[in-house]
Amino acid sequence: MNLHPLPHRKFINNLRSIANITDNLSNACAPATSVSDWVSEEKILEIARLPSTYVSDLGSWELRKTIADLYIRRPSHPIDPEDVIVFTGAQEAIFALQISLLGPHDEVLVVTPTYGSMMSFLLSLKIKIIEVPLSQENSWKINVSKIEQSLTPRTKLISINFPNNPIGVDLTPEDKGELAKLSEKYNIPILSDEVGLWTKSQTDLGNWKGDALSSYSDKVISLGVTSKSFGLPGIRLGWLIVRDQGIREKILSVKTHLSICSSQIDDFLAVEIFKRADEILVHHNQMIEENKTKFALFCKKHSHLFRYQKVDTGVTGIVEFVSSLDVKEFSHSLAMKNQLLMIPSEFFYLPGNFFRIGFGAKNFSEMLEKLEDFILKTS
Ligand SMILES: Cc1ncc(COP(=O)(O)O)c(C=O)c1O
Repeated sequence: MNLHPLPHRKFINNLRSIANITDNLSNACAPATSVSDWVSEEKILEIARLPSTYVSDLGSWELRKTIADLYIRRPSHPIDPEDVIVFTGAQEAIFALQISLLGPHDEVLVVTPTYGSMMSFLLSLKIKIIEVPLSQENSWKINVSKIEQSLTPRTKLISINFPNNPIGVDLTPEDKGELAKLSEKYNIPILSDEVGLWTKSQTDLGNWKGDALSSYSDKVISLGVTSKSFGLPGIRLGWLIVRDQGIREKILSVKTHLSICSSQIDDFLAVEIFKRADEILVHHNQMIEENKTKFALFCKKHSHLFRYQKVDTGVTGIVEFVSSLDVKEFSHSLAMKNQLLMIPSEFFYLPGNFFRIGFGAKNFSEMLEKLEDFILKTS
């Protein structure tokens, strides 16, 4: 198997090899905080003193219970701890799922743009991809009837990513209902990458839980992770909500060839951290919201270069580059001259003159100053 690298990672690594990048304006994670901001010293010492052991292949029961509790419990399909499988990052979960379900003659329907892992594995295995792009004319909204029209008897999986990376747009409850019905009608599972599900404006302690697509149908598999909405990529934990027993077994067999189980330390810390999920999200989502507002003002000031429409959901968004310069050239020169990284959207399968912007950085204003300095120097 000759796996292609993730396109955005390849772009970043190439750029890093020639430019001394110090800041990333396209980072997809919520504000970086420390474990000690959320977990007491006593608890940190507790894990340091425990005998170091494997945890269950599924993840500890305590963690699976805490993960199930991150979601709104819809009575028809509530998410239970039994439905959760824990992985070492969302990356491992995506890989395990794809390799479990797909073979060379299958077709996968992918709503684009999307995160690279959703496409690069399929391209590497020469699996046929039916792409259903979101369009600017349709305000980047999902078109469920277009998805239905594009299915064929060989479609084995529908792959979607909402809140969308990079655009930030989310599904409405009506979209979720329609997608769930579609999945059941054609008996095709949906992989719903929802790693940014908890990022929304107006988050308060009472309304922080995520409304997973798998809460609408047992056929849907939801993906979550510690890195994006929760801003803790140093804890390498992802999870799938998967109820189909056949699919669970296949995924677990694949996992025995990968990490087997995730780190006991990460598992322990994630339980402690998720106990404070409400506070973490209120903190992060407020900062993300402020950064979105700052960026909207910045783009208004530099409207000869950038056009931006604020979206209330997602850690990332896109900005249209309204210049005759090529986005990749701009990105290259910005990295070389001002050490700032801005990733063109084509690496997330959105062609055209767009960049992905990440709104989670604590030093977002400083990065905008760097960008402004670059614009003034080069105009
Ligand atoms: C939409 C999306 N899904 C999955 C992942 C993978 O998450 P992780 O790298 O934490 O495993 C990312 C990472 O950027 C992402 O943006």
